[in-house]
Amino acid sequence: MKYALIAALLIGCGSGEISGPTAPPQKTVSKELEALTVRNIDWNAAKVDVGAVSAIAEDDEELVLFGSKGATLMAGGAVHGVIPGAAAWTAAAAIPAADGVGDWIVGAADTGRLFRVRAESVLEDISERYGLGADKVRTIVGIDKTSVAFGFEGGLAIADGEKVTRYEGPKSGLLAGGGGRLAWIDGGAVKVFTLVDRKVRSFPLAEATGAAIDSAGRVVVIAGRTLWIESDGVLTVRWTADATFGAIATAGPRVWMTVGSELAVATGDALSKSSGANVANDARLSGTPAGDLWIVASTGVRKVSGSAPSEVIADWEATIKPVYAKVCASCHSPGGTAGSDLSTYDGWLQRKDKINQRVLVDRTMPPKGTPMEESERSVIRDWLTRAGR
Ligand code: HEC
Repeated sequence: MKYALIAALLIGCGSGEISGPTAPPQKTVSKELEALTVRNIDWNAAKVDVGAVSAIAEDDEELVLFGSKGATLMAGGAVHGVIPGAAAWTAAAAIPAADGVGDWIVGAADTGRLFRVRAESVLEDISERYGLGADKVRTIVGIDKTSVAFGFEGGLAIADGEKVTRYEGPKSGLLAGGGGRLAWIDGGAVKVFTLVDRKVRSFPLAEATGAAIDSAGRVVVIAGRTLWIESDGVLTVRWTADATFGAIATAGPRVWMTVGSELAVATGDALSKSSGANVANDARLSGTPAGDLWIVASTGVRKVSGSAPSEVIADWEATIKPVYAKVCASCHSPGGTAGSDLSTYDGWLQRKDKINQRVLVDRTMPPKGTPMEESERSVIRDWLTRAGR
């Protein structure tokens, strides 16, 4: 069993602290705000009663809803198990397995105990395994591929695959992790812990209410109506919205936020905002690696995907353009012999039904004599799905 060795170090987070910027950040980068298209994903087509859900975790195989019925296990849109347990949960996540094999789906009950979904029918109490038997776990946050942090009342514990290290604080609970870092809010500042040097850095920001770490490892902070993104070691205002930010969560390449009853997304430096998303004001967010979002609220659970124009084009350029250049360009360039220009995103979007028909259904494109890999057809299939075919 891993984690036999538990280094119960109690290091005050203050002791490893290096000071943050003392002068208030001055740079304000104003960015054009794009329109965010939000689509509801039908995750429960059979309309199964899943009770009052309070936390969600998902991995490649399984979706687990933690709530009033205990743990409800779903795969492919159908429920395949309900494990009775606690009726309320404060957190859930898919974390690297303590035995080193794959991942575990875990939930923190409101009692503070940590449970792992084991097989179809068992919720195993794993608090002791992480040396958390005496603690009330409140948050579960992934730091990187092998490390996970548990926030409990009075401190946090980091399990790195070999040992569990305990730290004092944060008093208000952990907020976010990713890219080898952890973030939380404490004493009028955003604290960012970096795993490599185990140091805490402080970004003073009195009004901060939420934080996330984006896919590039930068801290993203919401404070009242302003969004701050770390750049060159300081927090910089990126956007002053027309409503107050509520919740924030990272999902793959995106950082999602609620702003009033709308959703907003920061992808790299691009910002977009929905109109008409109608998000409940007590919504809590949890992202999926694919970039989609779970919204857990007293009004129920929603799963949504989102896209902004610049994201959509960046996606086309990253996935389709290389296939076009290799397989289609010889005939489908502007003015090419095929008579249809497929060199642009618009060209593909306009012909998405025909592309589906000719490349995937009839397989008459590319014509015989032009080789094309199956994996390249899959890239086109996946893109067509994302393009709403
Ligand atoms: C060797 C030349 C050649 C290559 C390579 C080629 N095509 Fe074509 N394509 C044609 C020609 C010629 C036509 C028009 C005649 C036809 O419809 O068969 C055509 C027609 C099409 C059409 C129908 C267009 C319309 O508006 O009716 C689609 C869609 C298409 N190609 C997609 C592709 C895609 C996607 C690729 C790359 C994966 C590709 N083709 C590669 C020559 C080619």
